[in-house]
Amino acid sequence: MKNIKFEVKLLFWKRKQKENQSYSLDKHNIPTHIAIIMDGNGRWAKKRGLPRTAGHAAGADNLVKIARHAYDLGVKCLTVYAFSTENWKRPEEEVTNLMNLCMKRLPQIVDLMEHRKVSVKFLGDRSRLPEPLVKMIEAEEARTEGFAQTGCYLNIALNYGGRDELVHAVSQIANEVKGNRLSPEQITEEVISSHLYTAHCPDPDLVLRPSGEIRISNFLLWQSAYSEFYYDNILWPDFSEQDLEKAICTYQGRNRRFGGV
Ligand code: FPP
Repeated sequence: MKNIKFEVKLLFWKRKQKENQSYSLDKHNIPTHIAIIMDGNGRWAKKRGLPRTAGHAAGADNLVKIARHAYDLGVKCLTVYAFSTENWKRPEEEVTNLMNLCMKRLPQIVDLMEHRKVSVKFLGDRSRLPEPLVKMIEAEEARTEGFAQTGCYLNIALNYGGRDELVHAVSQIANEVKGNRLSPEQITEEVISSHLYTAHCPDPDLVLRPSGEIRISNFLLWQSAYSEFYYDNILWPDFSEQDLEKAICTYQGRNRRFGGV
């Protein structure tokens, strides 16, 4: 009995230590742009006997917490994957719930960004989103448009797919060529980047995926060509400020060569 008590105490002590652990980050090497695949909400809810929707709500809460900490650390641009072009395959009830969750939580998230002078942008194809949500995202973008000069952005990827984004960009470029506004010889990597939803931001330095899945899932395919990847087993609603610092610390230990030596 005594032993069990000791073990439990030790476990709690270790957890507290972990929570209080702070990473000594190099303030001069904070990634400018971090992109996050907010994965594991469903499993988080299942573990607690809750509906998946509760997991998404907890995930939205965590987005607020992590965004706040990221900007405090000096990150300029944060891109989060909220709904992919493939997520329409989910049960209708879950899709509706995710759209409603966005409607409910976006004003609060944008309030916080407004307070921090961060410009909010939505990445993705809006044509399939419910009309009230499209109106809301247009209004929320307009509300923070003036902060673009700070260079701080929160990009929320909604009905976003990396391949879909490339199709959209290629189609725009083809139209410009057809209209003689661009010649085929003028098509460069910069021209392609400038036709992507992320044209206002540099490419991500660091892409995070919690929850134990190790794949890119159609996220920022072009932009992540030279991003550093960080995977973690923690489910997104549990991903803490310390976990973010740990990820940045790992990033700072990497040697980025961009194909050079
Ligand atoms: C993937 O986890 C997560 C999603 C498809 C939704 C992410 C959305 C949010 C966190 C809410 C964002 C809210 C706003 C207002 C932007 P999953 O459900 O596939 O997890 P699982 O793999 O454990 O099932």
